Amino acid sequence: MHIVGARPNFVKAAPVVAALAKRDVRQSVVHTGQHYDDRMSAVFFRELGLPRPDVDLGVGSGSHAEQTAALMVGLEREFISRSPGLVVVYGDVNSTLAAGLVAAKLHIPVAHVEAGLRSFDWTMPEEVNRRVTDQLSDILFATSPEAVGHLAAEGVAVDRVHFVGNPMIDTLLGNIDRFDTDALRSRVELPESYVAATLHRPANVDDPEVVARLVARLHEVADQIDVVMPVHPRGRAALTAAGLAEHPRMHLLEPLGYIDFVTLVRASTAVVTDSGGVQEETTILRVPCLTLRPNTERPVTITHGSNRLVVDSELPGLVSKLLAGERLGASAVADVPPLWDGHAGERIATILADR
Ligand code: UD1
Ligand code: UDP
Repeated sequence: MHIVGARPNFVKAAPVVAALAKRDVRQSVVHTGQHYDDRMSAVFFRELGLPRPDVDLGVGSGSHAEQTAALMVGLEREFISRSPGLVVVYGDVNSTLAAGLVAAKLHIPVAHVEAGLRSFDWTMPEEVNRRVTDQLSDILFATSPEAVGHLAAEGVAVDRVHFVGNPMIDTLLGNIDRFDTDALRSRVELPESYVAATLHRPANVDDPEVVARLVARLHEVADQIDVVMPVHPRGRAALTAAGLAEHPRMHLLEPLGYIDFVTLVRASTAVVTDSGGVQEETTILRVPCLTLRPNTERPVTITHGSNRLVVDSELPGLVSKLLAGERLGASAVADVPPLWDGHAGERIATILADR
């Protein structure tokens, strides 16, 4: 039983579900309803070939305690009535933590896809979710050697941990022929060249003072090059209130579906983001990525990719360097993180089917 609920979950689960289907493993998909807008949820099922969820718990939004509690109540009912032989959870969202907790107490084994990532920043809700989920998991699938090392250091038995690569990259590579810039331009009006931006981390979008500073910096970027920003619902109100749209070269969009979004990123001059998944996708697409965070749980995107951690004051200067043709990080190296080869879902399915 796969538990998915938030946008990045769908992108990671799609290749795992597809690979298990090829092996005739009986599966079900539970959508928790953590994300529910069409553009944050249903569009990914339509585009990525995910089967319709067997059930949608419709949990929706709330404070951490409210949302996690509602997720646990809904998932417990589901696990008891369907008695899954294994629960598969993805990434670091509240749906993942809740499923891990409920399954462990019901003695249902848990497999965690994307285990072992660590930002070592306990102020991030995701770090809490990752750490706890890994302790609760029986099978841990890691996307990088560093992640395997973190799990070993935390005392997770080595025979539980499998280094399999990155299913998010399976989805990227599996859809590479669908990222058609002309088709996107025929539907969405885009400037000739642009920076693509996304922001949704609480540390960046929840505090009005921080938001005001970031908006000023993004406007300084827009003084140099157009900025196209599909706005996550979390930051929408605060960014709008701070006047983000009030620059002639800022183009705000609704959240995009997966194919449109990756097409937008692929054709961009550079990306400004605080997303985890986007750091990984730009690594493979070799698009310079300026990550507005003090840390990353995905350091291979810096050592093997085009990612760089930045503070907001650096943004305008770095964009001007990029526009002058300067390279960033390891983007010139024809090297990708090990096993980010499009076959992680197959490896995961083989291990699960052999059980
Ligand atoms: C969640 C994850 C985060 C992940 C992100 C991916 C947790 C703790 N956080 O953050 O790790 O990076 O998803 O996008 O699980 N909202 C809508 N429509 C929706 C969904 C949300 O309007 O379909 C709005 C609601 O106002 C909600 C807010 O967004 O309160 C935040 O949603 P929530 O799921 O709590 O967390 P995210 O910030 O989306
Ligand atoms: N994404 C998308 N549309 C958007 C923004 C992001 O399809 O408007 C995709 C992106 O390509 C990646 C995933 O959503 O596959 C990342 O999700 P998000 O940034 O919300 O979460 P995080 O990875 O930070 O947890």
